[in-house]
Amino acid sequence: MPADESSTTPNEGASIYLDSAASTPLRPEAYRAMLPFLQTEFANPSAHHSAGRRASEALEDARHRVARVFNAEPEEVVFTSGGTESINAAIKGVAFAQRDAGGGHHILTTAVEHHAVLHSARFLERFGFEVEELPVDEYGRVSPEEVAAAVRRDTALVSVGYANNEVGTVQPIAAIAAAVAARATALGKRIPFHTDAVQAASSHPLDVQALGVDLLSLSGHKFGGPKGTGLLYMRRGIPFLELLSGGGQERQRRSGTENVPGNVGLAVALELAQADREGFTVRTSTLRDRLLAAIVEACPEAIVNGHPTERLPQALHICFSGLEGEALVDELDRLGIAASAGAACTSATWEPSHVLLAMGVPLELAIGSLRMSLWSTTTAEQVDHVAQVLPGAVSRVREAALPAPR
Ligand SMILES: Cc1ncc(COP(=O)(O)O)c(C=O)c1O
Repeated sequence: MPADESSTTPNEGASIYLDSAASTPLRPEAYRAMLPFLQTEFANPSAHHSAGRRASEALEDARHRVARVFNAEPEEVVFTSGGTESINAAIKGVAFAQRDAGGGHHILTTAVEHHAVLHSARFLERFGFEVEELPVDEYGRVSPEEVAAAVRRDTALVSVGYANNEVGTVQPIAAIAAAVAARATALGKRIPFHTDAVQAASSHPLDVQALGVDLLSLSGHKFGGPKGTGLLYMRRGIPFLELLSGGGQERQRRSGTENVPGNVGLAVALELAQADREGFTVRTSTLRDRLLAAIVEACPEAIVNGHPTERLPQALHICFSGLEGEALVDELDRLGIAASAGAACTSATWEPSHVLLAMGVPLELAIGSLRMSLWSTTTAEQVDHVAQVLPGAVSRVREAALPAPR
């Protein structure tokens, strides 16, 4: 943290930060709450002395705060090292336990999940599980009916993400979970339902009773908490085999000395994020729509991706023909603007996004994608500046991409 802790500029190299989907600045309140546990209150929360008890009390206080946000019991909250770990634990931990309990070996998910979900599920194929990735519509959505119809007697787990990290499309999670539960009941069984809510924490409710989910994953640094922290809500009674074995912390579900400062900061950030959901939504969607309108006016050929209304308020995803998204991101970076191409880079080639391809976006357009994600600190001046310089950046990158004249 810089000396000036009220600083909101997370990337010194870029003066305009439009990449909150990748990471967010630590909230000053979270930073302040963490400080004692980074300095004087460093004891191991499992230790049997008073310093250890103080650390343990802080940890349990953080757990209670998170549980209140989830409308759940504190015992149902597991602290992890991030979204990826929470998702791995939810998918692999539940799948193995379900199979052991005769709950089946079919994992049902969608084609637009984050790789933490898809790769966890595909990992399970090596152990005899069958993974089904449901197709999505042009906006990246699945319907409750489609998901329910794919549920089988041997389905061990259903995992559908709350909000997509590339295009921002929000799934009707409560309706999907209800449809899956009804179908499971009709089949005479109970099927755990997991949602990757990593991108939804700043704008959408996380009440697990209202959502009807059994497992929910979050990552601290996506809502103003510290990196290296995450949450897994796990409904009481859900079959689970722990991935990290050791000292039995987190009620035997996740061994390892707990990250007390991180979890304290995470709880504070989550409370703040959830308390400000409406304000965040209004502020970011107003600026996002202003930016979008200006871009569409200047570049009428730009294709906007994601659901027109059921979309994260901070998310803006656009495809431009005749260029590579990475080159555009580099050009914007040169202009002091941090954005993302939303495409994964492998060592030799640029791979187009699996999300865009699943939505039916043609390959040529999928390669030219730009993701801009706003944050609470984004200003009107910043989005106006981006709108002003982006068309020129697009033209320059396009020209550079043209084959040289012979
Ligand atoms: C939707 C979604 N799920 C999971 C993750 C993984 O979170 P982390 O990288 O913090 O472990 C991310 C991170 O980008 C995400 O956007």
